Amino acid sequence: MGDTVRFGIIGTGMMGQEHLRMIKLLPGAELTAFADPDSGSRFWARSVSDDSVQEYSDTAELLKKAPVDALVIASPNHTHEEVLEPVFESGIPVLCEKPLCTTVEASKRVVERAEKHPGLFWVGMEYRYMPPLQRMLQELRAGTIGSLRMLALREHRFPFLPKVGNWNRFNRNTGGTLVEKCCHFFDLMRLITEDEAVRVYASGAQDVNHLDEEYDGETPDILDNAYVIVDFASGKRALLDLCMFAEASRNHEEIAAVGDAGKLECFVPNSTVLIGRRNPHSVEEVEVPVEEAVMKAGGHHGATYFELEAFVEALHSGAPPDVSAHDGLMAVAIGAAAERSALERRPVEMSEVL
Ligand SMILES: NC(=O)c1ccc[n+]([C@@H]2O[C@H](COP(=O)([O-])OP(=O)(O)OC[C@H]3O[C@@H](n4cnc5c(N)ncnc54)[C@H](O)[C@@H]3O)[C@@H](O)[C@H]2O)c1
Repeated sequence: MGDTVRFGIIGTGMMGQEHLRMIKLLPGAELTAFADPDSGSRFWARSVSDDSVQEYSDTAELLKKAPVDALVIASPNHTHEEVLEPVFESGIPVLCEKPLCTTVEASKRVVERAEKHPGLFWVGMEYRYMPPLQRMLQELRAGTIGSLRMLALREHRFPFLPKVGNWNRFNRNTGGTLVEKCCHFFDLMRLITEDEAVRVYASGAQDVNHLDEEYDGETPDILDNAYVIVDFASGKRALLDLCMFAEASRNHEEIAAVGDAGKLECFVPNSTVLIGRRNPHSVEEVEVPVEEAVMKAGGHHGATYFELEAFVEALHSGAPPDVSAHDGLMAVAIGAAAERSALERRPVEMSEVL
């Protein structure tokens, strides 16, 4: 690999195009090829790519012919395992979008393959790279709030957007909302607590969204709101409060971490962190700026840009992935336990799903 990493993107729908925009911004990275079976998605990718970028309708052709050093996989969740198979055979380093797969079983198979993969394998848990979240982590790791005991994550946002072929309207394609969307938050819980989940209690339903939609005679079946409590091995506890019909929110994400010496809060897109100390009592508000060009390119509050930057750094340094296939599996597993808990209306032990 030269100084510039040549990227190929597999799947150029909404997220593939976000990666495309960020690769164009990132020093030391260039897009050389993309593949997508959908002509509409290829058209949009083509319209923002240089003429030299190669276009394929078939991933196998891209893998055979395109000059790439690394791949980003941004195809739908239920295709990840199949799309990864020839990529593993090629040995090319890969950043695979979340969730790793739609089920724990499929994720375990991918973990096994990834462990033998000679190239870097990285799961796209980009929320880790949101600058205000990074700032909050810095304080946490510096001991500002003492020993962390409770963590609350709230996502109140707009409903799922339409996707190519409407794949995201059905649990069978996504893994369920608590896997599809919320694997991000379960990954953040593991990152922030530095601990493993042991038990999950969830209450959730589809109360408002997509009930008036129909695809080939089927109504979507995905949850649109839930409370999920996760018990961690050390006794730390975490809560996810998800509402997907909450457009009337100032912040999509609000995270609160409380320890025995203080409290940290983080807001996105407000890009602020509140640092609270118990003794002597004080609350400080810190603004966390994000580069204008990165914000303009529209990448989840800069997260996609900084994720790709870290991925490129690891390609050069040979460092292990920030987010391994195992991390991807564990986030899917907590989501699967939460889906089961909501469905069966009972606490679910992680040992039941893993
Ligand atoms: N990290 C994040 O915050 C984030 C945000 C949105 C989506 N995602 C993830 O990105 C992935 C793509 O989601 P999206 O929102 O871009 O969906 P999308 O429907 O907009 O795009 C998916 C694209 O993949 C293509 N595709 C379908 N089957 C394929 C195959 N076998 N090989 C190659 N391409 C194929 C489709 O034609 C489509 O163009 C999903 O896994 C999703 O969960 C992540």
